[in-house]
Amino acid sequence: MCRLEATAFSRFNCTTILMTKLTKLNEWAVLTQHQQAIAKIHLHDLFEQNPTRFQDHTLDAGDLWLDYSKNHVTQQTVEHLCQLAHRLNLNEKIEQLFCAGMVNFTEKRAALHTALRNRNQQTFYYNNENIMPEISANLNKMHAVSEQLRQGSYCGYTGKAITDIVNIGIGGSDLGTSMAYEALRPYASKKLKLHFLANIDGYELEDKLAKLSPQTTVFIIASKSFTTLETLTNATTIKQWLNDPKAIKKQFMAITAKRQKAIDFGIDANHIFAINDCVGGRFSLWSAMGLPLAIAIGMKNFEDLLDGAYAMDQHFKSTDFNKNMPVMLALISIWYSNFFNANTHAVLPYTQQLRLLPAFLQQLHMESNGKQVNAHGEIVEHTTSPVLWGRAGSHGQHAFHQLLHQGKHLIPIDFIVAINSHSQYKNHHKQLVAHCFSQSEALMLGNNKQATQLATHKQIPGNKPSNTIIMKKLTPRTLGALIALYEHKVFVQSIIWEINAFDQFGVDLGKSATAKILEALEKKQKNNTVCQPTQGLIDYFHRYTHHS
Ligand code: F6P
Repeated sequence: MCRLEATAFSRFNCTTILMTKLTKLNEWAVLTQHQQAIAKIHLHDLFEQNPTRFQDHTLDAGDLWLDYSKNHVTQQTVEHLCQLAHRLNLNEKIEQLFCAGMVNFTEKRAALHTALRNRNQQTFYYNNENIMPEISANLNKMHAVSEQLRQGSYCGYTGKAITDIVNIGIGGSDLGTSMAYEALRPYASKKLKLHFLANIDGYELEDKLAKLSPQTTVFIIASKSFTTLETLTNATTIKQWLNDPKAIKKQFMAITAKRQKAIDFGIDANHIFAINDCVGGRFSLWSAMGLPLAIAIGMKNFEDLLDGAYAMDQHFKSTDFNKNMPVMLALISIWYSNFFNANTHAVLPYTQQLRLLPAFLQQLHMESNGKQVNAHGEIVEHTTSPVLWGRAGSHGQHAFHQLLHQGKHLIPIDFIVAINSHSQYKNHHKQLVAHCFSQSEALMLGNNKQATQLATHKQIPGNKPSNTIIMKKLTPRTLGALIALYEHKVFVQSIIWEINAFDQFGVDLGKSATAKILEALEKKQKNNTVCQPTQGLIDYFHRYTHHS
């Protein structure tokens, strides 16, 4: 089945709907008209009109359960949104994703993250080659190194057992692993500490090195390109800090698509873990990029993470759109951003272990879909990715929930909560869950009933939408399912917007000026290649640098 030629897909992708702009589609017009009707109905009244509304608007994807009843949607809305998805050939695009089709159509590449968790399957063909043996070999290599470090049999250059692992990476080479490590701390080794060094700010480096010993620390340079300035600068300074060639050979590892660059840096060839060019950085947790996590939680738990993602893949591939969790999250989000003009989306995990999830989802959503040119090479007329933000609850209740309740913005929210906690303090957990459920209720209902007796500044309108994603417990498996859920949500959004979720040309320009500005900061003479305001900033820097 999955032997469609990539070239055929690329032709297919560019010809099927060339003649019609997205916003001119009949399905788009139907939704525009439908929005005017729906917008007039308070969420509270949608429940009044349908006593089984809650049951009709929940989805079960095995490890995860979604309540989307507190949204400005009816079954009619769902049907219209699914019609739009069908019009944009979403089924074929999903098929292409899982068949190594050229879904990354600007870089003429597949996106192979689903192959990395293609559990218990013997084949995944890419360019007519079965890549499963290579993926299995990589997992076996990760398993071997992870076990050596966890058992204490992998020693530093002075013969001492390793006590600390430092992941040196940024963006997709940091955010997924650090988020998952925080989420799965209950499963992590107590003897082998994992640290993350991402920022170029020397303060972070000093802070980390102060707690580490050169003899008992393994440094993993995580960089798909092996050219990211922050990562290479940190790695080079650490190389000097180790100050022993034997340490470099023994206590540096690398995860990269550029093997020779790692060897040239001085990494032992046996300590280099490959990542395929067709695995996007923000989709790479399942690859060797997850090595630090596998070392911390053990390979069995890492494979449970893969299993959870695989289960979500199966759900995504085989479920009708109106019962398909990633599809419904994507369509509801598009409903708000493109038909209600919502500009941001909040993710509020009421689980402290998921406190780094919003940061991970920011890159996944905004680096994937922060685009304005579609598959036809046209500037799109509609908005694309909303700004995604959030923080673990219940912090937000004491920071930004005021705006959520009484502000003028429409901000769709994903609440995420686990029914069972890893904490011994079960009473605390029940309060946390109560806060989560209470917030989504208050956002929906407001205080309309009492509003007439209240002064206007105390009135809370309600009618604010939210999803609630529930897991029985935060485990490697449920975390894998949650991450895959959002990966596929982002993919579906990109298909509806007809943009490429897998390139990131926009990140390069901001970096390109760094070299010449750095040169100007290091020397005092004017650099006539920088623009006037930048030169002014450089001048101010020179005037006051070395002043306390
Ligand atoms: O932010 C740009 C980016 O290229 C991301 O896509 C990537 O995850 C990150 O920088 C790090 O890139 P690398 O893994 O090549 O160091």
